[in-house]
Amino acid sequence: MNVQVPKNISAITPYPPGKPIEELEREYGISGSIKLASNENPFGPSPAAVEAIRATLAGLHRYPDGSGYYLTQALADHLSIAPGRIVLGNGSNEIIEFLVKAFVCEGDEVITSHPSFLMYQKFVQVRGGVNHVVELRDMIHDLESITRLVSERTRLIFLDNPNNPTATFLPYGRLESFLNGLADHVIVVLDEAYIDFVDESVRYDTMALIDDVAGRCGVVLLRTFSKAYGLAGLRIGYGLMEEQIAVCLHKVRQPFNVNLIAQEAARAALKDSDFYAKTLRLTAEGKEYLSREVEKLGCISYPSQTNFFLIDVKGDATALYEAMLKKGVIIRSMKAYGFDTFIRVNIGTSEENGRFVRALGEALQECGYV
Ligand SMILES: Cc1ncc(COP(=O)(O)O)c(C=O)c1O
Repeated sequence: MNVQVPKNISAITPYPPGKPIEELEREYGISGSIKLASNENPFGPSPAAVEAIRATLAGLHRYPDGSGYYLTQALADHLSIAPGRIVLGNGSNEIIEFLVKAFVCEGDEVITSHPSFLMYQKFVQVRGGVNHVVELRDMIHDLESITRLVSERTRLIFLDNPNNPTATFLPYGRLESFLNGLADHVIVVLDEAYIDFVDESVRYDTMALIDDVAGRCGVVLLRTFSKAYGLAGLRIGYGLMEEQIAVCLHKVRQPFNVNLIAQEAARAALKDSDFYAKTLRLTAEGKEYLSREVEKLGCISYPSQTNFFLIDVKGDATALYEAMLKKGVIIRSMKAYGFDTFIRVNIGTSEENGRFVRALGEALQECGYV
């Protein structure tokens, strides 16, 4: 074989493959492990979504509705926005891909932060675009430095708000003045995968920003059913934007990009306000419990506007990750993100949270950090 791999593709670091829990358990000779590493909803899928999936199965021989008509309509009603301003995706990840496909050509520039969600940069590399990466300042997007990097060739700016992995949320005033100061050829993508978990006291209406800045720069909001709605395995998310941008995204998507089961489950989950409220309540309680307990163990826990948080374990994070893994508790070391002594943990069920605290206490001792 003598295939010619384009330079931009060979430069991409593949997504770390990861192993199914069952394989890790076999490797480490453990069982009953828990995963608090991917910011998933530990309370399961909404029962209403599961019911809707069952009812959909008999229709699997048909293609799904390519326009996602009923789900789009349900979202439009739920959010009070015109259906033409909603684009559905196979996870919100796919909307990121659409944005880059539609707006970035070779040599065009995209600005992202570091550390933040890694997929933005990857899609830009695939298109042969240029990534400009700005370090977070005090754990939050450095909007001033980002503004300084904007050029004639800047097409997109990605801001995960709240940010993954620092769990910080931009204050309204800072975001508004940033948007107001941008050139009108730029689209700002606010990735709101964790918006449901933001505390009421600091939350603001981000949807209003789409209209507030209309006529200046573009604003796209990304939302997902993977987190608060518990449907990560189905891959379903959406974007909210001006219609002019939505039209472009529809041009680059496959005709049936969102599968039938995902459309129906998402529609049911949207109506299941009990499950949604329970998720938010238990996540808030778990967060409070975990931050209190990890501080008691001598670690530093960082405030979080999401369903996960960062913990400074004051020693090598990867060694601690390994020690936790052997106890059947899977978390994320932040060393690869430049936070050498930090781990990231998502809130679990109350049993999982208790088990995490016990395992952390033992692992800290074994690693000699306390
Ligand atoms: C900031 C951020 N955006 C997007 C996603 C992906 O969401 P989805 O499952 O909808 O593709 C994640 C997943 O962890 C994330 O952390």
